[in-house]
Amino acid sequence: MKIEYFHASKHGNGAKVAEEFQRQMAAKGVTVNVHHVKHAKPKEIPPADLYVFGSPGRFGKPIGDMRGFLKKANLPSGVKYAVLVTELAPEPEKAIRIPTSEEELGKCQRVIPVINEMLQEKGLVKVAEGKIFVTGIKGPLEPNWQKEVEAFVAKIPISP
Ligand SMILES: Cc1cc2nc3c(=O)[nH]c(=O)nc-3n(C[C@H](O)[C@H](O)[C@H](O)COP(=O)(O)O)c2cc1C
Repeated sequence: MKIEYFHASKHGNGAKVAEEFQRQMAAKGVTVNVHHVKHAKPKEIPPADLYVFGSPGRFGKPIGDMRGFLKKANLPSGVKYAVLVTELAPEPEKAIRIPTSEEELGKCQRVIPVINEMLQEKGLVKVAEGKIFVTGIKGPLEPNWQKEVEAFVAKIPISP
């Protein structure tokens, strides 16, 4: 089984998540090729059994680089994908407040839904989705983030 993983990490947290995913999958005998979208050609995506897309959040959406990449991406209809994003950990004490300003509204999270919409329009089939939280605006990753990656890995169907 071969996985191609495309991410758009800006501050390095998502890149670490991609590396950890690659490491855990290697232990299961699965090859994962990791690419930053900035260095990947959306029209020349290598064939794979599964594609993973990883993006940080930006004002409730995937970062622009990822949206641009997905818009142009030449991906075969019917192929499987999974999405693993990094998002700012919710603050429970603020959870019941109703957003009033444009800035606050921007915090409404649609990072995974936007990725799903863009890929499903192209006919891709979702097999898993997951979030790894960061505790500050630019990181670091939440404690035990490797365990969260493990939980995501467990959702990926592995074929021989
Ligand atoms: C300008 C800006 C806007 C952000 N907006 C969001 C957001 O809407 N939702 C969210 O979960 N995180 C948001 N974040 C935090 C990112 O999720 C965080 O920077 C990212 O997950 C870190 O991953 P990276 O190191 O791979 O870039 C924002 C960060 C910046 C700098």
